[in-house]
Amino acid sequence: MSRSERKWDHIRFALENGEKHTIAFDDIKFIHQSLPNISVSDVRLDHSFGELSLSSPIFINAMTGGGGEKTYQINKQLAIVAREAGLAMAVGSQMAAVKDRSEQFTFEVVRHENPNGVIIANLGSEATADQAKVAIEMIGANALQIHLNVIQELTMPEGDRDFSNTLKRIEAITKTVNIPVIVKEVGFGMSKESVDALSKVGVSFVDIGGFGGTNFAEIENKRRRESLSFFNQWGIPTAISLIEAKAALTEMFIIGSGGITTALDIAKGLALGANAIGIAGYFLRILIENGVDALLEEIKTIHEELSFIMTALGARTIADLQKVPLIISGETYHWLQQRGID
Ligand code: FNR
Repeated sequence: MSRSERKWDHIRFALENGEKHTIAFDDIKFIHQSLPNISVSDVRLDHSFGELSLSSPIFINAMTGGGGEKTYQINKQLAIVAREAGLAMAVGSQMAAVKDRSEQFTFEVVRHENPNGVIIANLGSEATADQAKVAIEMIGANALQIHLNVIQELTMPEGDRDFSNTLKRIEAITKTVNIPVIVKEVGFGMSKESVDALSKVGVSFVDIGGFGGTNFAEIENKRRRESLSFFNQWGIPTAISLIEAKAALTEMFIIGSGGITTALDIAKGLALGANAIGIAGYFLRILIENGVDALLEEIKTIHEELSFIMTALGARTIADLQKVPLIISGETYHWLQQRGID
């Protein structure tokens, strides 16, 4: 099976997977404030962290690497949505296009459609510093995502089996490129230990890519008939992973993603310390099933709902929202107790 056929399988199975429960987010509760002393028109959704300035705290997370005409069409449509809604957008893995110049058009279209937007390049952790430079130049990227996908690789018959020296390669990339390097998971979450290890090699942005949404173990197991089904429930739920990352020894710029589909969970993710929230599968499903206009309408609704939630909490800015008090109960509370995180 070619790389682009495999990637198309991923899209098909990701869509079939349907929406998931936002597991640990249900354990997180806001505290109602009767006197927020604020108007909806006071709320601002723009937010800056590190070298990144975003006009919305939500962004379109990496999807559709692999190349080919289908990748081109999806990337083009996502880029139009990103431009019209003012969202940052990460592209899917560019490795195929780094290795084969004839595939570059499938990514270049993203910058072409959105000349002034924040666009994030993407490669796997097998990438070298030179490959990272090519991926960045291909789309004039404002940041680079390096994805970690040990479980996905293990569940793929043709996947990698050797995960040594990943940190060394990431360190080489952070030292070479002059834009923010965001190390991301793809739906299995990051522990405090993983975030600490990344910070020690100079990484200052992580997208914890938590468990609860698109599940690449399930997707790969469907393709190979469930033989590694124990990985289907493997991973750190997004809300818990955000708290783990926040407890890291060095303060990091944290991004949250994994199974987020509602304004309430976006608000909870930001209140847990995320600076931005990535959405992949949910946006892709709307785009493929209902088109560009439907996705733009959904983003508008999410922005409006987020403004209402922030108003109810008296939070004028995303920085204010990051400071509101929260009550944490259930499995999440027990997890944090055992991990000694408060
Ligand atoms: C992805 N994701 C992904 N991530 C990455 O870093 N590089 C990639 O090439 C891809 N490809 C990809 C294809 C498809 C079809 C989907 C649905 C997802 C992972 C994505 O960025 C995200 O981390 C996970 O999907 C979890 O977020 P959601 O989907 O639960 O919002």
